Formats: sequence, C-alpha cells, structure tokens
Amino acid sequence: MITKKTINDIVETSRIEEVVGDFVNLKKRGANLLGLCPFHNEKTPSFTVSPAKNIYKCFGCGKGGDPVNFIMEHESVSYPESLKYLAEKYGIEIEETQTSQAHKEEQQKLDSLYVLNQYARDFYHQQLLQTDIGKSVGLSYLKNRGFTDETIEKFGLGYAPKDKDAFTQNAKRNGFKGQQLKKLGLTSKYDSDFFRDRVMFTIHSVSGKVIGFGGRIMSKNVKAPKYVNTPETEVYNKSKVLYGAYFAKRAIRKSDECILVEGYTDVVSLHQGGIENVVASSGTSLTVEQIRMVKRYTQNMKILYDGDSAGVKAALRGLDLVLEQDMNVKVVMLPEGEDPDSYLQSVGSEAFKEYIESQANDFILFKSELLFQEASGDPVRQAAMIKDIVASIAKIPDPLKRSLYIKECGHLMKVEEEILMNEVNQIVTKSVHQAEDQRKKDQRQYARKKAAEKAENLPSDPGNFPPDAPPPYLMEDEAYDIDGGAAPPPQSLRRRPAAANSSEYQEKDIIRLLITYGGQQFNPENNDITVAHFILSNIEDVLDDFDNDLYQRVAQECLDLTIDGTPITPEYFIQHEDKDFRRLAIDVLQPEFEMSPQWLERHDLPLRSQPMPDANFNLDSISSIYWFKLRKLDKLIERNKASMKKAIDEKTGEEDVMKAMKIHQKLMEIRKDIALKLNTVIVR
Ligand code: CTP
Ligand code: MN
Repeated sequence: MITKKTINDIVETSRIEEVVGDFVNLKKRGANLLGLCPFHNEKTPSFTVSPAKNIYKCFGCGKGGDPVNFIMEHESVSYPESLKYLAEKYGIEIEETQTSQAHKEEQQKLDSLYVLNQYARDFYHQQLLQTDIGKSVGLSYLKNRGFTDETIEKFGLGYAPKDKDAFTQNAKRNGFKGQQLKKLGLTSKYDSDFFRDRVMFTIHSVSGKVIGFGGRIMSKNVKAPKYVNTPETEVYNKSKVLYGAYFAKRAIRKSDECILVEGYTDVVSLHQGGIENVVASSGTSLTVEQIRMVKRYTQNMKILYDGDSAGVKAALRGLDLVLEQDMNVKVVMLPEGEDPDSYLQSVGSEAFKEYIESQANDFILFKSELLFQEASGDPVRQAAMIKDIVASIAKIPDPLKRSLYIKECGHLMKVEEEILMNEVNQIVTKSVHQAEDQRKKDQRQYARKKAAEKAENLPSDPGNFPPDAPPPYLMEDEAYDIDGGAAPPPQSLRRRPAAANSSEYQEKDIIRLLITYGGQQFNPENNDITVAHFILSNIEDVLDDFDNDLYQRVAQECLDLTIDGTPITPEYFIQHEDKDFRRLAIDVLQPEFEMSPQWLERHDLPLRSQPMPDANFNLDSISSIYWFKLRKLDKLIERNKASMKKAIDEKTGEEDVMKAMKIHQKLMEIRKDIALKLNTVIVR
C-alpha cells in the first residue's frame, strides 16, 4: 500500500489544471478554466476547472472531484493506479507498505494476463528464429521484405506454427490455464491455436505491455483473411490502440507531429528507415479514443494514403472526427500503387521524407480540390460538394480557423465566400442549439438524480466538491464562476431556434422541384409540358399564399420564365443575381433532402422529397403539389372557422354563419379528395 505521506505529497503537488490539461483543452474564464467535458458528449463547454480549489466539475453530467478522481475517471484506473500516475507525472517517489491481500490478488490477476501475453510473444519470436519451419517460412519472408534482425527484435516479430495447437499445448505444459489462454484470445474455444501459420506482429500498450497480436497469413491459396487480430479482451480494446504508439511516442512529441499509416508493415518499415513518429490504426477507421491518445503528444497529424486506395474519399469523410478534436490534419497521397512500406523501400528514407514533406496537403483544402474536380460541370454535384466541405469546416471548433478555411475553400472551389460562410454558420448554429438541448436534457436528468439521491439520503457529489456550487440548472454558455464570481446570464437571454413551420417544408419542397427539375419534360414520352409548367399551373390558385417570401418570389420567377419560354435550370438559380436565390438553390440542390420532424411525427409520413431516382420526379411533383395544397387548404379551413366563430359570437346574422358552414363543407370535401389521392387517412 502507498504510504499516507506519499499520498499527501501527491495530492498536494498535483495541480488540477495541469492534470486535466493533459486531456482537455482548457480556456480561461474568469477565475476558472473551461473546456469540453471528457465524460459526456457535448459541443458547448460545461466542464469547469477551479485552480483555486484544485477541483473540476462538469455542470452537464455532474462529474466532479480532485486530480486523483479525475485520473481514476478518465483513465478508468483504480485509486492506487491513479496515485501512481500522478506520482510519475510529478516525479514523486512512491513509498509503499505491505499490500493488502485483496488488492494483491486483483493486481496479480491482471498481471498474469500480461505475463501470458508476454509468454506468447516470446514463443512466437522463438519459433521464428529457432525452428526450421519458422526460419524457412517466417524469417525468410521478413528478410525478403527487407526487415533487419534489429527491427525483428525491437518489434518482437514472430511466427505462429501451422500445427493445430502447438502454442496452446506448450503454454499448458508451462503452467498456463486453458481458461486464461481463451480469455486472451490466444486459444479458440475448441482448444486450438487462434494464430496459425502466420507472421506475428506484437501489439503493445502505450506503456509497452504486450496486449495483443496481429498475424499475417503465410500460406497462399487459402480463403482465410490476410490479417487476423486479437479479439477484444480484458487488456486489448482495439478502438483505443494505435499500433506502434509505444515506439513512436517520444518521436511524436519531439517532432510535434504524428504520422498515421494503414498497416503494420508500414509502421515497422518506417521505423526501420529512421522515421519513428509513425503509428497505424490497424485496418479500422480512426476512433475518437485513438485521436485523443495522439493529442496527448501532438496537435499535428499527417495521414499517408496508399496510392491505389480507392476509398480515399470515404476515408476523408471519416476525418471530420479529427477536426472535431481540434487537430491540424495534413494528408499525403503516395504514388500510384505504392504503400508507405513499398515506397520507402524503393526510394530510401531521405527521398521518402522529402516526398511526404512536399506532398503534404492541408486536409480541408485537399478535400475541396478533390471534390471540385469531381463536380465540375455538374450543378447538382457542385451543390453536394459545397454541403460536404461546409460540413467539414463546421466541425472546426476554432472560429478564426473556420473563417480562414472559408476564404481558401471559396477561392479553390470558385464559390462565393459569403455562400460558404452562411452555410457554415447555419450548421454551427444548429449544432450549438442541439448541444444546448442535449445539455438541458443532461441537466434535467442530473437534477432528477440529485433529487432522488436526496430523497434516499445518499451522499451525492464525489469526494470534496464544495456545497456552495451552483445548482446545475443555472449553468449557462458562459462558465459560472464556482469561486463566487459573475452570475450566469438570465434565462430570458437564451435563444431558442424558431419552431419549424411545417407549411414551410411543403413550400420548400415545391421550390426544390422547381429549381432542380423545373426545366425538364414532365412526361418524357410525349414532349408536352415542363415540370415547372405542370406544378405552377396546378398551384396557380394558391400562388399568392406562400408563407415564405423567398419561396414565393422563386415560384413567381419560375412562372415568369415559363410564360416567357425561358428554360429553367439549376444553373440559372445558382448563378442568379439575387444572392438569396443562389443560396436557396445550393440548399435545395442536394441529394438528400431534410424532412420535417413535425410532419413525420404528426402524419407518420416522410415528406415526398426523400432521395429518389431522378426518373420519379413527375410522380414526386404530383404528390408534392397535393401536400402543398393540403397545407394551404388547412389554412383556409382555419380561417373560415374563425370567421364562422366570429359570426356566431358577434351575432352578425344567420346568413353569414350559414355561408361559412357551407364553405366549410366544401373545403372539407376538397380536402378529403386530395387526401384520398394521397392515399392517406384524414384524422380530423
Ligand atoms: N488488415 C486487417 N485485416 C485484413 C486486412 C488488413 O486487420 N484482412 C489491417 C492490418 O492491420 C494491415 C492493414 O489493415 O496492416 C493494412 O492492410 P494492407 O494494406 O492490406 O496490408 P499491409 O500492411 O500493406 O500488409 P502487406 O504489405 O503484408 O500486404
Ligand atoms: Mn504493404
């Protein structure tokens, strides 16, 4: 057990802002520091650190405590492990008394798993170097690929023999239990070896413990996958591991950059070539945990893509995750047909370094260019491209960086800065609102939990959080000063998004059809009228009834164009002199169209404007018109009801009432008619 004196030393030396600061980006707010809570998902910071009290507290999820609590929570470690972590951070020597029995056993259990993994590593390594089959199959393969003895030693490369259970039998003979072998994924449930006839790559934790393996197949012409990896175990969680991190961490910190590659062999090869700040995500897409791990060492990431990688674009999409973590990302495309390993081996490390230095592209600009080339000449794809890049930019937490990117990308993609800016702002505002809603939900839950605890008279806050902390529901965007400073802004200052008006969605749907397909023939078989013509002639009677002024103007303009015989095209609107028109066009010219949440809820029906085969636009137009008319009709009905009520209330005469009732009947008939056409049931 760690002595009282050591514990006191650790607790007194640890600074909460430094401990938290290793994991969370903190910004100064008055006497406190503020950041995004690492314990729950949030977009608006409610995680507060008080250096004066040496504590942290999240007003979103309620977690709080001192540096020791923080490490326990954040790293999911035990109390003594947290103390050890802090002792190491602050260079405090640990004095220990006799360990308690229970703790000893717990530790031994975990240690024994690492011992077994280490044993397996040694076994495979020894097979590679000292058996005939290992040498002739595994070692010659690795040598052929240019790996030196030193490299093989350093990375603990090995060979798993062909036999059904050579390793399992060996381990059992040496005192390891079958149950443990299975627990670590080394032995299958049928007692055979998990890795057979494979070259073995040892996977280490950041601190160098053996936690798992990746095995590359040796035999050809078998259907088995090229690589198999240790399944999830008590000590191996693949979403938290980056291959090579143990060997790379110092170089990453020193060079202030982390190079990410795809494969085990790439990591090994680059290390051998003297490029040591390299890790791999082992065939899976990057996870938030992996990015956070890198972030402990650097903010800069350079991602190398294989030259033949067909999925680069898909991979780029995944990178928004990295932006969200406020990392600077560069991407490098290797020459056609090369991966980092092969390219390094062919040009040598100096040329390789030069290449990745000179070919490194800023991720967002790279993506813009790629999308721009793809979309050229296709307005629908151009609109989608703008959406795509805008979504990436909106992920960047730093507003200054965002606006720089908007400038650059606008230039690159030949899109007006203002359009991009508006789009980005829309998304940012939306996610701020969502975060706000989520936080309120969290807070309500937290408050309920507190109330329940209080009722049960349970202790509440962890450890030593002061009783004078503000109630969570007072928490606002600005940090509430837990040292007793400025009060949060009043509730009335909170902005809520305007409730979506379902009629607007109907209108927007009509506009979308007009802009996207307006100029096309409504019925391709007999060249009669255009989609715009069809739609407009059907809604002419309610054309003045649009709620949204912009939509109204677009519809009116479409009518004018149709009468003039001028073709309606997406380009016409994208290049329109009115910037509101241009923005709207980009907004609606996307493959996936939003649907009204209310509409879904109320009618259990999506809007007619879901992604659809283009050929269906005429069917789509028809139903859109019906939906649109239905909304307008509902408005008429409401209006008529009001005048009926007025006539009754003010006793203006039976005649007026009768007239209104007749109108009501007529309207309801029309409504029923339309609804029937839409094949839906009217509820009211
Ligand atoms: N991978 C995997 N399972 C597979 C294929 C690949 O887990 N069936 C992972 C491995 O971590 C591999 C990485 O994806 O290292 C990249 O795959 P690939 O480029 O095919 O392999 P290389 O590392 O280039 O291996 P080699 O050069 O030996 O073909
Ligand atoms: Mn390769």
